[in-house]
Amino acid sequence: MKELKEYIRSIPDFPEKGIIFRDVTSVLQDADALKLSIDELAKRLEGVDFDVIAGAESRGFIFGAPLAYVMHKPFVPIRKKGKLPCETVEKTYDLEYGTATIEMHKDAVKKGEKVVLLDDLIATGGTMKAAAELVEELGGEVVKMLFLIELSDLNGREVLKDYDVDSVVQFEGK
Ligand code: PRP
Ligand code: MG
Repeated sequence: MKELKEYIRSIPDFPEKGIIFRDVTSVLQDADALKLSIDELAKRLEGVDFDVIAGAESRGFIFGAPLAYVMHKPFVPIRKKGKLPCETVEKTYDLEYGTATIEMHKDAVKKGEKVVLLDDLIATGGTMKAAAELVEELGGEVVKMLFLIELSDLNGREVLKDYDVDSVVQFEGK
């Protein structure tokens, strides 16, 4: 069976010149690769004591919900601003390119709950840092940050040095 890394398509100069875009649609479009990605993420949660998985819109939803299903835990969506109907907390942060604001429902995480944060990819770490701050604002504890793909040269781990960061596939270079 092929390794997961082989299923991830790389597109040079997207969305900007000099960036190599690591595309997860090529993982999703292959049944073996999709299963492998969820299995590999689940492996990294073996023995971890946690209450809920929270995933960042959009690509964090694609992997986060099936992972929560497999682990038999609830899933909390961290959404882009303006999508959640009830009371929210929000955070604005810098992206690899541009800025973004994310939100969580105030009742999505209870005080003292142990939260696994999940996203498809870590680049600068900005998205996850903002997500962790939201969870902590609600009184939750981030016990692990899990990614399918890590762009290791962008030093996201440095930004997230206070957390337990884990990834399935690593790429060097931008
Ligand atoms: C991408 C990716 C991560 C984030 C990583 O999401 O899915 O969420 O960027 O970058 P960072 O570590 O520098 O924060 P994007 O905001 O492009 O949106 P999408 O998931 O909706 O495609
Ligand atoms: Mg994203």
